[in-house]
Order: sequence, then structure tokens, then C-alpha cells
Amino acid sequence: MRRPFLGILGSGKGSNFEAIYHAIQQNQLKAEIKLVISDIAEAGVLQKAKQFQVPHFFINREKFETETIALLKQHQVDLVILAGFMRILSADFVNTFPNHILNIHPSLLPKFRGKKAWEQAWQSGEKETGCTVHIVTKELDSGTILAQRRVTILPQDSVETLYERIRQQEHQLYPVAIQTYWEQINCLRR
Ligand code: GRF
Repeated sequence: MRRPFLGILGSGKGSNFEAIYHAIQQNQLKAEIKLVISDIAEAGVLQKAKQFQVPHFFINREKFETETIALLKQHQVDLVILAGFMRILSADFVNTFPNHILNIHPSLLPKFRGKKAWEQAWQSGEKETGCTVHIVTKELDSGTILAQRRVTILPQDSVETLYERIRQQEHQLYPVAIQTYWEQINCLRR
């Protein structure tokens, strides 16, 4: 089976990008990161891409979707990987790569969609939360769930300690979920 070409979209620190990068280096994820794109010029994800010598691009908001689609196609990307990407993608964008855009979200979807999902879980007195990898559709945080990891909310947890443990799970989950999904869709094609 051919290794998928990945295009990473991120707006933040880039810790999930880093986890995917290291999983590839260690041959746990058989894929190739073709490029990293951000809508935030100073985002950590672009600095990490520079450090790892991965082609990286800042695209400003006005032209974001058209230029991003052009770059992803130019780099022959198979899977678009949202890793801390904070913009909502249009239906046109999603339909350009149907079932080929994945996202990681810091809750056990379908619970707690949207922003600061770990804080929503913490505030609502849940006993556990976690993280979810799902297919991106035009409805926010609503596509098919591919994989989840559970995290117990401890009585002594602060919002910050809880989120830190969720992030640790995210970093393990995302590379595995990408590998498994690629195998699944290639199996179906055969
Ligand atoms: C992660 O918690 C992810 O679940 C959410 O955004 C955060 C990104 O963090 N979608 P990073 O930029 O990968 O460090």
C-alpha cells in the first residue's frame, strides 16, 4: 500500500503536528508530510515545520481557502489533517476533499463541540472526557468518529491539568487514527 501524502493545517502550537512528524520518523505512521499551512503568521506550527524542514506556508484570511486548495492539490495531498486549526472550513472546501479531511477534537464527541471543549467538560461536572479523531463535514465537529481516547477527570484536576492529560492522549491517538483510516479506505477501494 502506498504511503499517503499529508497536508497539515494548524493555527496553534503545533504539538499534534510534532507528534505526527515523530510517529513518521519512527515508522509507526507510514505517511509523508508534504506541507504545513497556517492562517496565523507567528503560529508555533510554522516554526516547528521550519525546524523539521517541512515546506510551510502562511496564507492570510482573505485568500485562505482558494490558495490552500491550490497548494494541497499542487502537492498531491491525499489526506488533509487539521491539527489545532481554528477556522471553520466552508462547504466548498470540505466538498473538494470529501471524506479526506480529518480533525482532532479535545472531547468525547458528540459531547462538547466547539471551543475549549475540555473546559466545558470540566465545568459541567463530568467524570470523564477525552479526545476524538473524526472526519470533517460542513457541520462543526460532527463527522464520523474514527477513534477516541478516554481521560478520567480527577477531583484535584484544574482546567489546565485536565487539558494537559488530554493533549498527551491526542498525541498518541492521532498518528494511529490516520494510519488506520488510510488502511481502511484503501481496503475498500481494492
Ligand atoms: C488540540 O487540543 C486539538 O484537539 C484542538 O486544538 C489543539 C491543538 O493543539 N483542535 P496543537 O496546536 O496541536 O498543539
